[in-house]
Amino acid sequence: MNKKILLPEEELPKQWYNILPDLPEPLPPPINPSTGKPLSPSDLEPIFAKELIKQEMSSERWIPIPDEVLEVYRIWRPTPLIRATRLEKYLKTPAKIYYKYEGVSPPGSHKPNTAVAQAYYNMKEGVERLTTETGAGQWGSALAFATKMFGLKLTVYMVKISYQQKPYRAILMKTWGADVTPSPSTRTRVGRAILEKDPDNPGSLGIAISEAVEDAATHENTKYSLGSVLNHVLMHQTVIGLEAVKQMEIAGDFPDVVIGCVGGGSNFAGLSYPFYQLVVSGKAPKKVRFVAVEPTASPSMTKGVYTYDFGDTAQLTPLLKMYTLGHDFIPPPIHAGGLRYHGAAPTLSLLKKHGIFESVAYNQVEVFEAALTFARTEGIVVAPETAHAVKAVIDEAVKAKESGEEKVILFNLSGHGLLDLAAYRDFLEGKLPAYEYPEEKIRESMERLEGMLRELGVKA
Ligand SMILES: Cc1ncc(COP(=O)(O)O)c(C=O)c1O
Repeated sequence: MNKKILLPEEELPKQWYNILPDLPEPLPPPINPSTGKPLSPSDLEPIFAKELIKQEMSSERWIPIPDEVLEVYRIWRPTPLIRATRLEKYLKTPAKIYYKYEGVSPPGSHKPNTAVAQAYYNMKEGVERLTTETGAGQWGSALAFATKMFGLKLTVYMVKISYQQKPYRAILMKTWGADVTPSPSTRTRVGRAILEKDPDNPGSLGIAISEAVEDAATHENTKYSLGSVLNHVLMHQTVIGLEAVKQMEIAGDFPDVVIGCVGGGSNFAGLSYPFYQLVVSGKAPKKVRFVAVEPTASPSMTKGVYTYDFGDTAQLTPLLKMYTLGHDFIPPPIHAGGLRYHGAAPTLSLLKKHGIFESVAYNQVEVFEAALTFARTEGIVVAPETAHAVKAVIDEAVKAKESGEEKVILFNLSGHGLLDLAAYRDFLEGKLPAYEYPEEKIRESMERLEGMLRELGVKA
């Protein structure tokens, strides 16, 4: 038995998988908040490349991956599928645990799978500069790498407190040539207004999104880029699962359970949707459970409500039907910065509503215990986001031991944690609090949201 299963470069998928035609019901359309009506593609043109808008709404099941994108993917793809034999032994479980290792990309996570595609289509359409926001910096660094590959400029609005506390990701972005601005900044109307009232404002993802969108909408040849949640972003990530399907076949196994952490949903969708496709097309040899893992501090799928909500705090984006904690959700300062989002991708939310996908939440203390077990058995120091998936995997493997079942578990190791060592330090020094987001705050947010939707004439 091989420890890792590698695919040759020729086996790189040539098409992305679009889940839209395979959903259990049509995806509720995004709503334009100024009209209360479904969004038209032209509403998005001021900020997104046309080809990406087409992909966002496409009903084609398979979308070809351009050769120029494949050429960049080849720097690190196909990524390895690894059997966590040492973890299995440590847990004394009959379960077989496999993980897809996305930490081998240049920025160290799955994020460049979509960043490269988005940079390419923008370059093709004559865009010269992209703007984006970043919290802890994983997405910003992926887009910095990708824009450099296609000769585009990039402006990143990085949440000011992260810029100050987590300098290494900003250095990485600058190494790839990006212009990184702590947000709120004086570059935008939104930023200036906030700084006038509160010069020491530490920033938030909501403010950074507003600045990046305003910058794109007010400058020629400039577009905005988003790292999760939207259909086209999740679709670009399906290269992960398409490779994993082939690798599991080589291993002679098929997963009973597929697990991934969820911020906006892109890495989990990337791994799980190609397996879901085999299930809905009747090609899967067995029933598969799909388990989305999130923090108890930001439990959108486990405790949120399925309704229309804005994608950002500043209410600039269209309304999306999704599980949400409310767009005015203020996340506790957990280390898994990439999971501090109030909603979950609309396609993933729909699958959860139909009971096809499950969700589970853990606090960051139990999550870091799992990450330490993983580092001390398999060797890889995982990102704090990924550590959530690892905790769920260990729980499933322990359950399999108790029931004596030889379950096959597959999870997405979405990124390494070598630039997140401050989080490991806090855990090792016993300084991590176990946050739980209070139910009454969710209720309050939902009451405010219901009022807003009534005013906009949008049916929840
Ligand atoms: C390593 C890693 N995993 C997971 C996520 C969560 O995002 P998503 O749910 O879109 O995969 C992030 C986001 O920044 C991340 O950096």
